[in-house]
Amino acid sequence: MGEPHPKLETTDLSRTFGRGSAAVDALGPLDLTVAPGEFVCIVGPSGCGKSTLLRIAGGLLRPSTGELAIRTSSPRPAAMIFQDYGIYDWKTVLANVRFGLDIQRVPRREANARARDWLARMGLADFASAYPATLSGGMRQRVAIARALAVEPEILLMDEPFAALDAQLRTILQDELLDLTQTTRTTTLFITHSLEEAIVLGDRVLVMSARPGRIIAERRPPFPRPRSGDVRSAPEFTTLKSELWELLRPEAVPA
Ligand SMILES: Nc1ncnc2c1ncn2[C@@H]1O[C@H](COP(=O)(O)OP(=O)(O)OP(=O)(O)O)[C@@H](O)[C@H]1O
Ligand SMILES: [Mg+2]
Repeated sequence: MGEPHPKLETTDLSRTFGRGSAAVDALGPLDLTVAPGEFVCIVGPSGCGKSTLLRIAGGLLRPSTGELAIRTSSPRPAAMIFQDYGIYDWKTVLANVRFGLDIQRVPRREANARARDWLARMGLADFASAYPATLSGGMRQRVAIARALAVEPEILLMDEPFAALDAQLRTILQDELLDLTQTTRTTTLFITHSLEEAIVLGDRVLVMSARPGRIIAERRPPFPRPRSGDVRSAPEFTTLKSELWELLRPEAVPA
């Protein structure tokens, strides 16, 4: 038997914004595969096209050239967590988390139960009837995470989901996500600025160049699954982090 078909595959993918002399080449060309159950992390300098890639993967933006293939076995959608949360201020926290389930027409009673379960896991049980405007930035981001996970997506697309969290909470949620994805084997494409985060979470870490972002390197963190947050203190962790930084540094220097 050969390799299983990737769940997500891009071929020669690129995106340009605007036209003529004002055109901005934001991304690619880029070839990327994510295998079933694989957790792929992408790191790259600011403005290199990471969010553009994720929005294309989520079907929110068309590529200028190339192709995107998403191969899911059920009608469950790919779920996306935006860099800037994308939660609705006029809906309660509970209604925000239930949102994807409502779209799937999950019966209200079950949808409420699942949404409350995810709120509890995110430490937000007491805020179900609050409105997002009354929450802190980190709490809002946890609402967005709960909303995406509540639909139990086949593919999870995460764009710096932990960026607004303090260091402690970030570590806790990284460990939670590690547990969760190792249990569910959810195929995940995860964008982050943090090399540590990419190494803890990823089966593979892809390094993108400056804009227009291409993949310039790939590393496999040498930690078997199931793994825990303890890998943070392994010597191989520090070595890989320095190696990734050497790859990234020339790209991160402002042109
Ligand atoms: N809708 C748009 N119209 C025009 N230009 C855009 C649009 N969206 C993104 N760009 C440009 O495309 C480039 C890549 O943007 P993108 O948001 O994908 O970067 P990023 O890697 O996610 O950056 P960051 O790490 O800061 O989030 C940038 O130069 C940005 O200005
Ligand atoms: Mg971005």
